Formats: sequence, C-alpha cells, structure tokens
Amino acid sequence: MSGLFITLEGPEGAGKSTNRDYLAARLRDAGMDVQLTREPGGTPLAERIRELLLAPSDEPMAVDTELLLMFAARAQHIDQVIRPALARGAVVVCDRFTDATYAYQGGGRGISVSRIAELEAFVQGSLRPDLTLVFDLPVDVGLARAAARGRLDRFEQEARSFFDAVRQAYLARAATDPQRYEIIDASLPLAKVQAHLQAELPRWLERARG
Ligand SMILES: Nc1ncnc2c1ncn2[C@@H]1O[C@H](COP(=O)(O)OP(=O)(O)O)[C@@H](O)[C@H]1O
Ligand SMILES: [Mg+2]
Repeated sequence: MSGLFITLEGPEGAGKSTNRDYLAARLRDAGMDVQLTREPGGTPLAERIRELLLAPSDEPMAVDTELLLMFAARAQHIDQVIRPALARGAVVVCDRFTDATYAYQGGGRGISVSRIAELEAFVQGSLRPDLTLVFDLPVDVGLARAAARGRLDRFEQEARSFFDAVRQAYLARAATDPQRYEIIDASLPLAKVQAHLQAELPRWLERARG
C-alpha cells in the first residue's frame, strides 16, 4: 500500500475532531489526496454499529460485546474505506482507531492487552497507522469541554477513574513507539495546538514515510 495512515487519539474533548479537520485542510493545501474518516464508524454499516456502541441503554453492554462491536465496525471500515484509500495512495486521516480500543476497552474496561492484540492481528493483519497523534490533557479539562458540547454518550457517562485509566493507557502506548506516536499538549489554546501541528507536520510526515 502506497498511502499514509494517520490516526488521531485522545480522550473526550481533547480536540481530535477539531484538529482532524485542520490537519486535513493543511494536507489538502499541500496537494495531497486526503480521506477523512472516523471510528467507530466511517461507513454506513459501521456508523450503525457506532450508534449501538454510543447510545446509553438500560441493558448493560458486556465488555466483550463492546470489544467485538468495535472490531466488527473496524473490519467493515478497513475493507470499505481504509484499504481502498491507501491503495489509491491517499493520506487517510482517521479520528480514533485501535489505540482507542487499547485505551478504552483495555485501560478503561480492563480487557487484557493480549486479547486486544489477538483481535487486532485477526482484523487488521499487518495494517497499522504510520503516524498517531495523541491529544493529551487533564481528564477534567476534557470532560468539561465534552460536557459543554451537549448530551453525554455511553462512554462520556463513565466515572472519572475510567478516564484516568484511558489517559494512562494512551500515554503508556505512546511511550512504546516514539517513531509512530506524537503526544500533543491538548490543554493549550486551540491556536497554539494548531500552530504546533502546522510547524511539526512536515517532519512527522517524513518520519512516518520512513
Ligand atoms: N485547544 C482547545 N482549547 C479550547 N477548546 C478546545 C480546544 N480544542 C478543542 N476545543 C473545543 O472543545 C470541544 C471538543 O473538541 P472536539 O474536537 O470535539 O474534541 P474530541 O473530538 O477530541 O472529543 C469543542 O467545542 C472544541 O471547539
Ligand atoms: Mg470527536
């Protein structure tokens, strides 16, 4: 595959969606073919799975159900969107991917890393992001931004301790591979975050292209 696979990660309210659009605009300015997408979702069927995952419900969702739905949506998304885009040489910019599964279903829900890694290998084969931007900020700041956005989804309704675990899991993963991960201080004002992205993007792209 000749394209480039970039993922944006981080907790609620970190600014992933805001900066995903900014990043896509900068890449398009540079003449690149950009495929903008998100998880869970990214295709009509996968978006229906997203609704199942995010909707608060009286029936508690078993943690394994949540994990398998995440990977079911991902299998569809990879097949319909990500692989075709990479094959045509596009830069795929994806708002959340498998690092979110390690952070939320792993760190948050307590599923083992080895179980998630098994499914990752099964669903993705050797497909991994070339560059992952982890938007990091204190849990309270992110939750306040997410709350200001409106009604809370099933994940956003979790306890504070859940988000502490999510944050730690993201940081632990980022520490394992400095070639792939870049930690962004998402607590800074948006203009500062975006100035940082704009300044560093060429270097990150070069590194990701290896
Ligand atoms: N650096 C920032 N400083 C202040 N507010 C921000 C910043 N980045 C994003 N926001 C705001 O916080 C809210 C959540 O941002 P969003 O991009 O939706 O986060 P995410 O997709 O990570 O949940 C939005 O209202 C957005 O405008
Ligand atoms: Mg978002």
